[in-house]
Amino acid sequence: MIPETLRKELSDHCAHYPSRQVGLIYVLQKLQEHYGGWLPDEAISQAAEIVGVPEVEVEGVATFYNWFFREPVGKTVIVCCDSVSCYLCGSEKIVEHLENRLGIRIGETTPDGRFTLLPVVCLGNCDRAPSIMVGDRLYERVTPAMIDEILANAEMLAEGKE
Ligand code: FES
Repeated sequence: MIPETLRKELSDHCAHYPSRQVGLIYVLQKLQEHYGGWLPDEAISQAAEIVGVPEVEVEGVATFYNWFFREPVGKTVIVCCDSVSCYLCGSEKIVEHLENRLGIRIGETTPDGRFTLLPVVCLGNCDRAPSIMVGDRLYERVTPAMIDEILANAEMLAEGKE
């Protein structure tokens, strides 16, 4: 269950639009924050009820967008583009290096819950491939040599030092 204050805030937000469905993305963003970075089944039900749409519709949106998570993720999510431009520019080496540094395979979360490493379809940054996103930061023309600094920056951000 979510606090009544949050439910009211989200419902009021949806009421601003001619169709309450327009508010669905916002509702999911806020619920993801509330549930600690992911959307459990309960969040899907809550969103459906607040917005007034079937759960299957909410599920469709929650699984379509890369930044909604239906399983728990680490504090920082790293997404690595594996589409054609990035692939041709060495994305496999980037993923391999990240896997080695983090001690996990793509699709996994580090045991300490700090990082989740995921593949992603084109980040729209193809002319600066290979591209990855760490949290909400985009990194371009990434090389294995850049990874240590990128991870150090991510750790600082996660600890609120930057
Ligand atoms: S192919 Fe990687 S950003 Fe487009």
